[in-house]
Amino acid sequence: MAPKKWKWYRKQSVNGTDRKSRLGVLISGSGTNLQAIIDACEAGRINAEVVCVISNKASAFGLERAAKHGIPAIHLDHRNFAGRPEYDAELVKTLNSHSVELVILAGFMRIVTPTLLNAFNNRVMNIHPALLPAFPGIDAQKQALEYGVKVSGCSVHFVDAGTDTGPVILQSVVPVLENDTVETLSERIHVEEHKLYPEAVRLFCEGRLSVEGRRVRIS
Ligand code: GRF
Repeated sequence: MAPKKWKWYRKQSVNGTDRKSRLGVLISGSGTNLQAIIDACEAGRINAEVVCVISNKASAFGLERAAKHGIPAIHLDHRNFAGRPEYDAELVKTLNSHSVELVILAGFMRIVTPTLLNAFNNRVMNIHPALLPAFPGIDAQKQALEYGVKVSGCSVHFVDAGTDTGPVILQSVVPVLENDTVETLSERIHVEEHKLYPEAVRLFCEGRLSVEGRRVRIS
């Protein structure tokens, strides 16, 4: 059977003016990737705007980053919901209330359910600090060091129901150095993440990504 094909056709313009894509970013922590995406939007490198930032943790510094840029910063505590699907239903409601087109997971430490994925089919992205399919899940940098690989890196992928198993959009390779610790390797990977994630978002917003089975085609 031929692989299933999917492409997002974005409405390019409204009344003849080029329209910005609407991004919703989900975080749990520092939000340096969020910052890189906000900066790329503000600099005009991505024709998009971050229209809301949602965190499941009140203490996430990313919420402050959002507020500083005048972006609605929303704390949605998962502990107030009966389960994952109920939490995700609230996420969908909030994202839809801001007319979000692309959902960006940027250090969002929660497993998302089909409730979110079905509402945003092939429109949820994640960044992972390893070269998938190697070292999925938590502590990817530690896993890479313990395994003894000589290169690692980061991957941006569409999110599916598995953990870090969705179709890969872009990857960047980072060498593992002789004296690397989890901290030094993470730092080097982070630098690449901040270039890679905005690039993947830009390609999406330009309507240049299509998914064919497991393969993401870039036109
Ligand atoms: C990044 O390392 C990313 O790969 C992982 O979570 C971390 C988020 O970092 N998914 P930050 O909050 O964007 O600084």
